[in-house]
Amino acid sequence: MSVSIKASTGNPFARVLSVASYVPSRVIDNAEMCTYIDSSDEWIQQRTGIAERRWVGEEETVESMALAAAQRAVERAGIEGSELGAVIVSTVTYFHQTPSLAAKLAHQLGTNGAAFDISAACAGFCYGLGQAESLVRSGAARYVLVVGVEELSRFTDIHDRTTAFLFADGAGAAVVGPSEINGIGPVVWGSDGGQSQAISQTTEWSEAVANGQTPYLAMDGRSVFKWASGFITDATKQVLDAAGLTPDDLDVFIPHQANNRITDAILRHLKLPERVVVARTIKQFGNNSAASVPMAMDQLLTTGKAKSGQTALLIGFGAGLVYAGQIVTLP
Ligand code: ACO
Repeated sequence: MSVSIKASTGNPFARVLSVASYVPSRVIDNAEMCTYIDSSDEWIQQRTGIAERRWVGEEETVESMALAAAQRAVERAGIEGSELGAVIVSTVTYFHQTPSLAAKLAHQLGTNGAAFDISAACAGFCYGLGQAESLVRSGAARYVLVVGVEELSRFTDIHDRTTAFLFADGAGAAVVGPSEINGIGPVVWGSDGGQSQAISQTTEWSEAVANGQTPYLAMDGRSVFKWASGFITDATKQVLDAAGLTPDDLDVFIPHQANNRITDAILRHLKLPERVVVARTIKQFGNNSAASVPMAMDQLLTTGKAKSGQTALLIGFGAGLVYAGQIVTLP
Protein backbone atom coordinates (compact mmCIF):
# COMPACT_ATOMS: atom_id res chain seq x y z
CA MET A 1 0.00 0.00 0.00
CA SER A 2 1.35 3.42 -0.85
CA VAL A 3 1.16 5.74 2.14
CA SER A 4 2.45 9.18 2.88
CA ILE A 5 5.15 8.88 5.54
CA LYS A 6 5.73 12.03 7.51
CA ALA A 7 9.34 13.26 7.20
CA SER A 8 11.29 14.45 10.20
CA THR A 9 11.65 18.19 10.55
CA GLY A 10 14.51 19.78 12.37
CA ASN A 11 16.55 22.91 12.60
CA PRO A 12 18.17 24.71 9.70
CA PHE A 13 21.52 24.97 11.49
CA ALA A 14 23.51 23.45 14.33
CA ARG A 15 26.51 24.60 16.35
CA VAL A 16 28.80 23.46 19.12
CA LEU A 17 27.28 24.96 22.28
CA SER A 18 30.03 23.91 24.67
CA VAL A 19 33.18 21.86 25.07
CA ALA A 20 34.88 20.44 28.17
CA SER A 21 37.55 17.93 29.04
CA TYR A 22 38.92 15.76 31.80
CA VAL A 23 42.67 15.40 32.25
CA PRO A 24 43.67 12.35 34.32
CA SER A 25 45.86 12.81 37.37
CA ARG A 26 48.97 10.70 36.76
CA VAL A 27 51.75 12.62 34.99
CA ILE A 28 54.21 10.38 33.14
CA ASP A 29 57.17 12.44 31.95
CA ASN A 30 59.70 11.24 29.42
CA ALA A 31 62.17 10.36 32.19
CA GLU A 32 59.65 7.89 33.65
CA MET A 33 58.74 6.65 30.14
CA CYS A 34 62.40 5.84 29.55
CA THR A 35 62.35 3.49 32.54
CA TYR A 36 59.90 1.34 30.49
CA ILE A 37 61.46 1.62 27.02
CA ASP A 38 64.91 2.10 25.54
CA SER A 39 64.58 5.74 24.46
CA SER A 40 65.44 9.29 25.54
CA ASP A 41 63.66 12.52 26.36
CA GLU A 42 65.50 14.13 23.43
CA TRP A 43 64.36 11.48 20.91
CA ILE A 44 60.73 11.56 22.06
CA GLN A 45 60.56 15.37 22.03
CA GLN A 46 62.29 15.70 18.65
CA ARG A 47 60.29 12.93 16.95
CA THR A 48 56.86 13.70 18.42
CA GLY A 49 56.81 16.91 20.49
CA ILE A 50 55.71 15.00 23.61
CA ALA A 51 57.24 16.11 26.92
CA GLU A 52 54.81 14.27 29.18
CA ARG A 53 51.49 12.45 29.02
CA ARG A 54 48.64 11.65 31.42
CA TRP A 55 47.60 8.19 32.55
CA VAL A 56 44.69 7.33 34.80
CA GLY A 57 45.28 7.14 38.54
CA GLU A 58 43.81 4.39 40.69
CA GLU A 59 40.37 5.98 41.02
CA GLU A 60 40.01 6.99 37.37
CA THR A 61 38.41 4.92 34.59
CA VAL A 62 37.02 5.43 31.09
CA GLU A 63 33.59 5.76 32.69
CA SER A 64 34.63 8.29 35.33
CA MET A 65 36.57 10.43 32.82
CA ALA A 66 33.68 10.41 30.33
CA LEU A 67 31.20 11.40 33.03
CA ALA A 68 33.35 14.25 34.35
CA ALA A 69 33.89 15.74 30.88
CA ALA A 70 30.23 15.23 29.94
CA GLN A 71 28.87 16.87 33.11
CA ARG A 72 31.06 19.93 32.51
CA ALA A 73 30.00 20.16 28.87
CA VAL A 74 26.29 19.92 29.75
CA GLU A 75 26.68 22.57 32.46
CA ARG A 76 28.57 24.90 30.10
CA ALA A 77 25.87 24.46 27.44
CA GLY A 78 23.33 25.77 29.94
CA ILE A 79 21.02 22.79 29.54
CA GLU A 80 19.91 19.93 31.77
CA GLY A 81 21.19 16.42 31.12
CA SER A 82 17.56 15.36 30.68
CA GLU A 83 17.36 17.57 27.55
CA LEU A 84 19.95 15.49 25.67
CA GLY A 85 18.21 13.70 22.82
CA ALA A 86 21.25 11.61 22.00
CA VAL A 87 24.57 10.63 23.54
CA ILE A 88 27.40 9.45 21.28
CA VAL A 89 30.60 8.08 22.80
CA SER A 90 33.67 7.41 20.70
CA THR A 91 36.24 5.12 22.28
CA VAL A 92 38.42 2.10 21.48
CA THR A 93 39.23 1.47 25.13
CA TYR A 94 35.91 0.64 26.80
CA PHE A 95 36.42 -3.05 27.40
CA HIS A 96 32.80 -4.07 28.00
CA GLN A 97 31.56 -5.21 24.61
CA THR A 98 27.98 -4.50 25.62
CA PRO A 99 26.03 -2.52 26.82
CA SER A 100 27.48 0.67 25.41
CA LEU A 101 29.24 3.24 27.54
CA ALA A 102 26.92 5.83 25.98
CA ALA A 103 23.81 4.17 27.45
CA LYS A 104 25.34 4.15 30.93
CA LEU A 105 26.49 7.73 30.55
CA ALA A 106 23.07 8.86 29.33
CA HIS A 107 21.50 7.33 32.44
CA GLN A 108 24.05 9.01 34.71
CA LEU A 109 23.30 12.35 33.05
CA GLY A 110 19.55 11.87 33.53
CA THR A 111 18.37 11.26 29.98
CA ASN A 112 16.61 8.39 28.25
CA GLY A 113 17.69 9.72 24.86
CA ALA A 114 19.30 7.64 22.14
CA ALA A 115 22.74 6.38 23.12
CA PHE A 116 25.43 4.55 21.20
CA ASP A 117 29.20 4.03 21.02
CA ILE A 118 31.25 4.40 17.88
CA SER A 119 34.67 2.98 17.02
CA ALA A 120 36.56 5.40 14.83
CA ALA A 121 39.80 5.67 16.83
CA CYS A 122 41.46 9.08 16.62
CA ALA A 123 38.86 10.33 14.13
CA GLY A 124 36.06 9.41 16.55
CA PHE A 125 35.23 12.84 17.93
CA CYS A 126 34.94 14.34 14.43
CA TYR A 127 32.85 11.34 13.32
CA GLY A 128 30.55 11.93 16.30
CA LEU A 129 30.35 15.65 15.62
CA GLY A 130 29.32 14.94 12.02
CA GLN A 131 26.56 12.67 13.27
CA ALA A 132 25.46 15.15 15.93
CA GLU A 133 25.15 17.94 13.37
CA SER A 134 22.95 15.73 11.19
CA LEU A 135 20.79 14.61 14.12
CA VAL A 136 20.14 18.20 15.21
CA ARG A 137 19.43 19.43 11.68
CA SER A 138 17.12 16.50 10.92
CA GLY A 139 15.24 16.97 14.18
CA ALA A 140 16.07 13.48 15.42
CA ALA A 141 17.50 15.15 18.54
CA ARG A 142 17.54 18.74 19.79
CA TYR A 143 20.71 18.47 21.88
CA VAL A 144 23.41 15.87 21.28
CA LEU A 145 26.37 15.07 23.52
CA VAL A 146 29.53 13.85 21.79
CA VAL A 147 32.22 12.32 23.98
CA GLY A 148 35.71 11.16 23.02
CA VAL A 149 37.32 9.13 25.80
CA GLU A 150 40.33 6.83 25.97
CA GLU A 151 42.34 4.86 28.47
CA LEU A 152 45.09 3.92 26.03
CA SER A 153 47.50 3.20 28.89
CA ARG A 154 45.53 -0.04 29.42
CA PHE A 155 45.72 -0.88 25.73
CA THR A 156 49.43 -0.19 25.25
CA ASP A 157 52.39 -2.45 25.94
CA ILE A 158 54.44 -0.03 28.01
CA HIS A 159 57.60 -1.91 27.00
CA ASP A 160 56.92 -1.49 23.27
CA ARG A 161 59.20 1.32 22.13
CA THR A 162 57.17 1.85 18.93
CA THR A 163 54.00 2.96 20.77
CA ALA A 164 54.46 3.35 24.54
CA PHE A 165 55.70 6.97 24.46
CA LEU A 166 52.79 8.13 22.26
CA PHE A 167 49.57 6.88 23.78
CA ALA A 168 47.78 8.48 26.72
CA ASP A 169 44.47 8.83 28.57
CA GLY A 170 41.81 11.54 28.78
CA ALA A 171 38.30 12.64 27.85
CA GLY A 172 36.65 15.48 25.95
CA ALA A 173 32.98 16.26 25.39
CA ALA A 174 30.87 18.72 23.43
CA VAL A 175 27.18 19.55 23.28
CA VAL A 176 25.71 20.27 19.84
CA GLY A 177 22.37 22.05 19.50
CA PRO A 178 20.23 24.20 17.20
CA SER A 179 21.49 27.56 16.02
CA GLU A 180 20.26 30.66 14.16
CA ILE A 181 23.39 30.71 12.00
CA ASN A 182 25.43 27.77 10.82
CA GLY A 183 28.23 26.77 13.22
CA ILE A 184 29.30 23.39 11.82
CA GLY A 185 30.44 22.83 8.23
CA PRO A 186 29.91 19.65 6.21
CA VAL A 187 31.82 16.66 7.54
CA VAL A 188 34.51 15.31 5.21
CA TRP A 189 35.17 11.71 6.18
CA GLY A 190 36.23 8.36 4.88
CA SER A 191 38.22 5.20 5.41
CA ASP A 192 40.93 3.02 3.92
CA GLY A 193 40.41 -0.47 5.32
CA GLY A 194 43.15 -1.67 2.98
CA GLN A 195 45.53 -0.26 5.60
CA SER A 196 43.75 -1.81 8.59
CA GLN A 197 46.95 -3.48 9.77
CA ALA A 198 48.75 -0.14 10.13
CA ILE A 199 47.26 0.37 13.62
CA SER A 200 45.51 -2.62 15.10
CA GLN A 201 44.92 -4.79 18.13
CA THR A 202 47.58 -7.50 18.39
CA THR A 203 45.16 -10.43 18.96
CA GLU A 204 41.40 -10.95 19.28
CA TRP A 205 40.13 -10.90 22.85
CA SER A 206 38.92 -14.52 22.84
CA GLU A 207 42.26 -15.76 21.54
CA ALA A 208 44.20 -13.60 23.99
CA VAL A 209 42.11 -14.74 26.98
CA ALA A 210 42.56 -18.41 25.98
CA ASN A 211 46.33 -17.83 25.96
CA GLY A 212 46.36 -15.79 29.17
CA GLN A 213 47.46 -12.65 27.31
CA THR A 214 46.29 -9.05 27.00
CA PRO A 215 45.95 -7.58 23.52
CA TYR A 216 47.66 -4.28 22.76
CA LEU A 217 47.71 -1.67 20.05
CA ALA A 218 50.45 -2.28 17.51
CA MET A 219 51.37 0.32 14.92
CA ASP A 220 53.43 0.63 11.77
CA GLY A 221 54.40 4.20 12.62
CA ARG A 222 56.14 5.00 9.33
CA SER A 223 53.12 4.00 7.18
CA VAL A 224 50.72 5.96 9.36
CA PHE A 225 53.07 8.95 9.33
CA LYS A 226 53.27 8.90 5.52
CA TRP A 227 49.50 8.56 5.11
CA ALA A 228 48.78 11.29 7.66
CA SER A 229 51.29 13.75 6.21
CA GLY A 230 50.06 13.27 2.62
CA PHE A 231 46.49 12.09 2.39
CA ILE A 232 45.30 13.94 5.49
CA THR A 233 46.68 17.20 4.13
CA ASP A 234 44.42 16.77 1.09
CA ALA A 235 41.48 15.88 3.33
CA THR A 236 42.10 19.07 5.31
CA LYS A 237 41.89 21.09 2.10
CA GLN A 238 38.61 19.31 1.30
CA VAL A 239 37.22 20.34 4.71
CA LEU A 240 37.83 23.99 3.80
CA ASP A 241 36.36 23.56 0.29
CA ALA A 242 33.26 21.82 1.64
CA ALA A 243 32.59 24.77 3.94
CA GLY A 244 33.29 27.30 1.16
CA LEU A 245 36.27 28.75 3.05
CA THR A 246 39.98 29.35 2.40
CA PRO A 247 42.95 29.20 4.81
CA ASP A 248 42.62 33.00 5.26
CA ASP A 249 39.19 32.49 6.88
CA LEU A 250 40.60 30.37 9.72
CA ASP A 251 41.48 31.52 13.22
CA VAL A 252 42.33 28.16 14.77
CA PHE A 253 43.58 24.76 13.55
CA ILE A 254 42.94 21.73 15.77
CA PRO A 255 44.39 18.57 14.22
CA HIS A 256 44.39 15.23 16.03
CA GLN A 257 47.37 15.31 18.37
CA ALA A 258 49.26 12.39 16.80
CA ASN A 259 52.68 13.88 16.28
CA ASN A 260 53.88 17.50 15.99
CA ARG A 261 55.78 16.57 12.84
CA ILE A 262 52.52 15.44 11.19
CA THR A 263 50.96 18.77 12.21
CA ASP A 264 54.00 20.58 10.74
CA ALA A 265 53.71 18.64 7.47
CA ILE A 266 50.02 19.53 7.13
CA LEU A 267 50.79 23.19 7.91
CA ARG A 268 53.53 23.34 5.26
CA HIS A 269 51.04 22.31 2.59
CA LEU A 270 48.01 24.22 3.85
CA LYS A 271 49.88 27.54 4.01
CA LEU A 272 47.84 28.91 6.90
CA PRO A 273 48.41 32.56 7.83
CA GLU A 274 50.90 32.99 10.72
CA ARG A 275 48.19 34.37 13.00
CA VAL A 276 46.24 31.07 12.98
CA VAL A 277 46.45 29.41 16.42
CA VAL A 278 47.55 25.78 16.11
CA ALA A 279 46.75 23.20 18.82
CA ARG A 280 49.91 21.56 20.21
CA THR A 281 48.56 19.95 23.34
CA ILE A 282 50.45 16.76 22.49
CA LYS A 283 53.35 18.32 24.46
CA GLN A 284 51.57 17.85 27.81
CA PHE A 285 48.92 15.25 27.01
CA GLY A 286 50.41 12.87 24.41
CA ASN A 287 48.09 11.19 21.89
CA ASN A 288 44.63 10.71 23.45
CA SER A 289 43.00 9.23 20.32
CA ALA A 290 39.25 10.09 20.28
CA ALA A 291 39.72 12.55 23.16
CA SER A 292 42.52 14.60 21.62
CA VAL A 293 40.52 17.07 19.49
CA PRO A 294 37.99 18.10 22.20
CA MET A 295 40.75 18.15 24.86
CA ALA A 296 42.79 20.47 22.65
CA MET A 297 39.76 22.66 21.90
CA ASP A 298 38.94 23.01 25.58
CA GLN A 299 42.56 23.73 26.46
CA LEU A 300 42.84 26.49 23.82
CA LEU A 301 39.62 28.12 25.04
CA THR A 302 40.33 27.91 28.76
CA THR A 303 43.88 29.27 28.37
CA GLY A 304 42.58 32.16 26.22
CA LYS A 305 44.67 31.15 23.17
CA ALA A 306 41.44 30.75 21.21
CA LYS A 307 38.17 32.60 21.68
CA SER A 308 34.48 31.85 21.46
CA GLY A 309 33.09 32.72 18.01
CA GLN A 310 36.36 32.05 16.18
CA THR A 311 36.48 29.72 13.17
CA ALA A 312 38.36 26.45 13.67
CA LEU A 313 39.25 23.55 11.40
CA LEU A 314 39.12 20.14 13.12
CA ILE A 315 40.64 16.99 11.63
CA GLY A 316 40.97 13.54 13.19
CA PHE A 317 42.67 10.45 11.73
CA GLY A 318 43.74 7.05 12.96
CA ALA A 319 43.14 3.32 13.14
CA GLY A 320 40.96 1.95 10.38
CA LEU A 321 42.49 3.81 8.72
CA VAL A 322 39.77 6.44 9.07
CA TYR A 323 39.55 10.21 9.03
CA ALA A 324 36.99 12.98 9.55
CA GLY A 325 37.05 16.74 9.77
CA GLN A 326 34.87 19.83 9.71
CA ILE A 327 34.88 23.57 10.27
CA VAL A 328 33.27 24.79 13.50
CA THR A 329 32.54 28.08 15.18
CA LEU A 330 34.14 27.73 18.61
CA PRO A 331 31.66 27.71 21.51
N1 ACO B 1 63.23 5.71 21.12
C1 ACO B 1 64.41 5.87 20.48
N2 ACO B 1 64.60 5.46 19.22
C2 ACO B 1 63.58 4.86 18.59
C3 ACO B 1 62.32 4.66 19.22
C4 ACO B 1 62.18 5.11 20.54
N3 ACO B 1 61.03 4.98 21.21
N4 ACO B 1 61.49 4.05 18.35
C5 ACO B 1 62.18 3.88 17.22
N5 ACO B 1 63.45 4.36 17.37
C6 ACO B 1 64.52 4.40 16.38
C7 ACO B 1 64.35 3.33 15.34
O1 ACO B 1 64.98 2.12 15.75
C8 ACO B 1 65.06 3.95 14.15
O2 ACO B 1 66.45 3.79 14.29
P1 ACO B 1 67.38 3.50 13.00
O3 ACO B 1 67.23 4.73 12.13
O4 ACO B 1 68.74 3.34 13.60
O5 ACO B 1 66.82 2.28 12.35
C9 ACO B 1 64.77 5.44 14.28
O6 ACO B 1 64.43 5.64 15.67
C10 ACO B 1 63.63 5.91 13.40
O7 ACO B 1 62.52 5.01 13.55
P2 ACO B 1 61.13 5.33 12.86
O8 ACO B 1 60.18 4.24 13.17
O9 ACO B 1 61.37 5.69 11.42
O10 ACO B 1 60.70 6.65 13.65
P3 ACO B 1 59.74 7.80 13.18
O11 ACO B 1 60.49 9.01 12.91
O12 ACO B 1 58.80 7.31 12.11
O13 ACO B 1 58.91 8.06 14.49
C11 ACO B 1 56.70 7.59 15.30
C12 ACO B 1 58.11 7.02 15.04
C13 ACO B 1 56.85 8.71 16.30
C14 ACO B 1 55.85 6.47 15.87
C15 ACO B 1 56.11 8.12 13.99
O14 ACO B 1 56.24 7.17 12.98
C16 ACO B 1 54.65 8.51 14.12
O15 ACO B 1 54.29 9.42 14.84
N6 ACO B 1 53.77 7.85 13.34
C17 ACO B 1 52.36 8.21 13.29
C18 ACO B 1 51.60 7.85 14.54
C19 ACO B 1 50.13 8.22 14.37
O16 ACO B 1 49.82 9.25 13.84
N7 ACO B 1 49.23 7.36 14.76
C20 ACO B 1 47.83 7.63 14.41
C21 ACO B 1 46.97 7.73 15.49
S1 ACO B 1 47.09 6.46 16.69
C22 ACO B 1 45.51 5.70 16.82
O17 ACO B 1 44.78 5.65 15.92
C23 ACO B 1 45.17 5.09 18.16
